[in-house]
Amino acid sequence: MAINYADKIPNNVDLGENKQLQRALEHWQPKYLDWWREMGPVDSTNYDVYLRTAVSVDAKGWAEFGYVKMPDYRWGIFLTPPERERLVPFGSHKGEAAWNEVPGEYRSTLRRIIVTQGDTEPASVEQQRHLGQTCPSLYDLRNLYQVNVEEGRHLWAMVYLLHAYFGRDGREEGEALLERRSGDEDKPRILGAFNEKTPDWLSFFMFTFLTDRDGKYQLAALAESGFDPLARSTRFMLTEEAHHLFVGETGIGRILQRTAEVMNEQKTDDPEKLRRFGVIDIPTIQKYLNFHFSVTLDLYGSEVSSNASNFFQMGLKGRFEEEKLKDDHRLNDSEYPILEPVGERLVEKHHPALLALNERLRDDYIKDCQAGVDRWNKSLEKLGVQTKLTLPHKAFHRKIGVFAESHISPEGKVLSESDWTRHSGDWLPGKGDHEHVQSVMKREVEPGKYASYIAPPAREINNQARGFEYVKFH
Ligand SMILES: [Fe+2]
Ligand SMILES: [Fe+2]
Repeated sequence: MAINYADKIPNNVDLGENKQLQRALEHWQPKYLDWWREMGPVDSTNYDVYLRTAVSVDAKGWAEFGYVKMPDYRWGIFLTPPERERLVPFGSHKGEAAWNEVPGEYRSTLRRIIVTQGDTEPASVEQQRHLGQTCPSLYDLRNLYQVNVEEGRHLWAMVYLLHAYFGRDGREEGEALLERRSGDEDKPRILGAFNEKTPDWLSFFMFTFLTDRDGKYQLAALAESGFDPLARSTRFMLTEEAHHLFVGETGIGRILQRTAEVMNEQKTDDPEKLRRFGVIDIPTIQKYLNFHFSVTLDLYGSEVSSNASNFFQMGLKGRFEEEKLKDDHRLNDSEYPILEPVGERLVEKHHPALLALNERLRDDYIKDCQAGVDRWNKSLEKLGVQTKLTLPHKAFHRKIGVFAESHISPEGKVLSESDWTRHSGDWLPGKGDHEHVQSVMKREVEPGKYASYIAPPAREINNQARGFEYVKFH
């Protein structure tokens, strides 16, 4: 499974053997590069950036580090090696041989799944394109660009599947993926959270902690797919995703560390005083967490979903770690609890497990988020700060699903509209919060220096020395 870098498009799928497919992708490649220049990181085309590039797909040593100009990044097609005699692990085809071609009757459903996943990848690059101008350090700038090039590669992964398995419709979808734009009223990206702005680095770290984690769960569910090329593509994407989550978790962790240090030095937890020292107070961080968490929960879709049931029964999209679960993997006779508002209360009702798969994936995701929040709180405690961050209740500030019409507090209390209006400013970032966060977003590009609101990382990338010049501007 060595990667062929001699080809115009690096790959480990023997692309050179399939001239028609190779031509189609070589035709898409310049359009992708046009999109990158137009919608990728602002003003970045001439920088030398210390990036990792995939050189093989095995667990060890897939990454090679070196300076790259981003338009020359070797975007390509990397799938994890096929498993011998892999079987469909779930659904009504459980136990049949996994498919290497698209089953005709599932064609449009599968295409839709791939397009929806593919659309999020360029969307996040678009959302993040201005952040380089306010980077808190070269280390962070490099991490932003690493995330961006890998999201670009994730788009490649999905476009490869569209081209290789969906003929002309697939090629058309590949073009459309370069035409939609995050936040554009006329041609928005498909999913809500990918049309929100990422205007500052606190939002960026929340996005990579929370929204890239949604990516992890969606990819993990697709990594179980009976359509083997999709399973193998998403498995390799997951190895890249891990770094994005690391960027988010350590980013917020470093912001909290800096805030805690100033709280200790100044012996205060008064947000107004802390703000004057150029840090972000914990209540503001909590509000950003509330916002990004609730917006990301919506990405899982409705709690009760016949689409999700179909995807599972067809063997296209499984559950998180499907193969580790101890049940029949068909779910015809099982139930799953779903919380919903009934009058003043939230009540748990049991639904057929097949219809509740979105909710189940969301619940798995929430547990993973909670573990990250617990790690932040532990670090705060070590720094002598008793304040804790909390994940809001899953019903809080939802736009999709059973809670969409209700007003629910972060503690999970059903509120009247007037109570919501009175308090929502305490829970979600408002103008003053955004303004403060914007005001500390000062660009810092001197090697080894960090903006006022964020601590240096515990470790440098690839064990480089402190003060390493991750980005050279020329
Ligand atoms: Fe991605
Ligand atoms: Fe990601």
